[in-house]
Formats: sequence, structure tokens, C-alpha cells
Amino acid sequence: MTLITVDPERCTKDGHCVAECPPQIIALTDEIPFVMPEMEVYCIDCGHCVAVCPAEALTLRTLAPAECLPLNKASLLSEEQAEHFLRSRRSIRNYKDKPVERETLQKLFDLARHAPTGSNKQPVQWLVIEDAGDVQKIADMVIDWMKDVIQKDPAAAAEMKFDRIVAAQAGGVDRICRKAPHLAIAFADTAYSNPQTDCAIALTYLELFLPALGLGGCWGGYVNYAAKHWPPLQQFLNLPENTECYGVMMIGYPRYRYHRMPLRREAPVVWR
Ligand SMILES: Cc1cc2nc3c(=O)[nH]c(=O)nc-3n(C[C@H](O)[C@H](O)[C@H](O)COP(=O)(O)O)c2cc1C
Repeated sequence: MTLITVDPERCTKDGHCVAECPPQIIALTDEIPFVMPEMEVYCIDCGHCVAVCPAEALTLRTLAPAECLPLNKASLLSEEQAEHFLRSRRSIRNYKDKPVERETLQKLFDLARHAPTGSNKQPVQWLVIEDAGDVQKIADMVIDWMKDVIQKDPAAAAEMKFDRIVAAQAGGVDRICRKAPHLAIAFADTAYSNPQTDCAIALTYLELFLPALGLGGCWGGYVNYAAKHWPPLQQFLNLPENTECYGVMMIGYPRYRYHRMPLRREAPVVWR
């Protein structure tokens, strides 16, 4: 099967697929759109040619129009709704003592795979810490790492205020994982060109989807940092070789509800 097949009865030769193809490999002469065989290797499999065709005329080797969810205009957010949706997201640091069903967690990863990735490489992989006891083990390991930094690099530890976090943990207050029942760890092969950015965007998609499922989350910056530096935690996570942890999200049912949206500083923008 060639890379694209075009139904000549349906194709109106409007050129949308040609214009929207990111690597510009679709050509349109007097005939229907086609891809030269030697150009096929440049396809990034993004499906834009299928998705943009109003006539459902184009099928990609990996994707037929019927497999794509139709875009429903009525479901698009208005400006006001979009602003409210994005501004109402909050970092959640208190969770109900209630696990999230795997089926619900799975929905998060199914959604996050629609986040953009460099060259559509989709390199993001997930490690889910489902067991709340394991989440606590991870929090304890991060505290061990902080204690180690306090000893070996007191200036850096003071800058990051590790002493207060360690003291809080000793007093039963978990400032590392916030007693969240679950962690989602985004990791990727280090050989990709943008693994850190791709994972951060996927985590952002995941975080934005949480409230729709009645959930809340918070970035686990300390866990992520320790995962890069603390061998016992690396051994515990046991990520595949040549991959790295690029971001962590705590996940659970929020204990409290927010009633207002806090302000942020004006965006520093340079206009030229
Ligand atoms: C990369 C990153 C790492 C973060 N790490 C932590 C963390 O380890 N613990 C924590 O409580 N919050 C963490 N946060 C949450 C920020 O503190 C939070 O986003 C910020 O205070 C703004 O609050 P908001 O998310 O509710 O708007 C992190 C956020 C980001 C983006």
C-alpha cells in the first residue's frame, strides 16, 4: 500500500493536504494528491492530511478518516470558558485517603498521548506508582537524598530550604508527595531530541484533564530532581536503560475545593 491513497471521486483538489503536510511531501499537479515513493520516509505520521481533508478523500497507510474522532464545533470552548478552564487549574496538595481506580488513571494517559511532541515522535512513557505505600517509600527516599545534600552541599541545601522539608517529614507532614495515593512518572529515551519538553507537555495535558475526572494533582519537582541524582531512588524506579525521568505528577482525589483563582504577575512581553 502506498503512503496515501486518495479517492478520486471524493477529492476536490483543494490542496489543503498539500499545504498542511508538515514535511511538505504531498504534491498536487493536475491530478489528485500523491507522494513520491522516495519522499515517504519523511512522513512523520501526524495524520494532518487525513484530518484536514473536508471530503474524507485521503487515507494514510496508518490512518483512515473513519478512525478519527470528528471535530465537534459545539464542544469547543468559548474564550471565556477556555480562560476559566485554564485559570482554574490548581496544584493540589491535600488528597482524600482514597485510591483512584486504574480505569480512571488509564484515561489520563489515553488523553496525554494527544499532547504535541517534537516531530510527532511520541516518546513519552509512563511509570505509575499505584500503591500508596510505594509513594511513601519514594517520599522517604527523596528525604534521604535531601539529608545527603544537607551534609555534602550545605549551601545548595540551604538555598533549596531542604532543612524545613526534612523537619516537616520528621513531624509527619509529607512535603514531597503530599500523601498523594499515586504518582505518574513521565520518562523517555534520552536519545530523542526533546524528551524533557515532550514529557513536560504530556504532564501538562494530564494535569489539565484531572479535574474533569474529579481528580487533582501536583508536580512532584523534588521527586523528579531526586530521580536524577539519588541512586537508591533510581534503583527503586528501575526505569529501562537509556531512559530518564523527566517529570512527576502526584494524583488523587482533592480533599478541598478552591473558590477563587489567584492572580499572577503581569507577563513580561517584549513587542518588536
Ligand atoms: C516543574 C514544577 C515542579 C513543581 N514541584 C513541586 C513540588 O515538588 N511540590 C509542590 O508542592 N509543588 C510543586 N510545584 C507546583 C508549583 O509550586 C505551583 O505550580 C505554583 O506554586 C503555582 O500554583 P498553581 O499550580 O496552583 O497555579 C511544581 C510545579 C512545577 C511546574
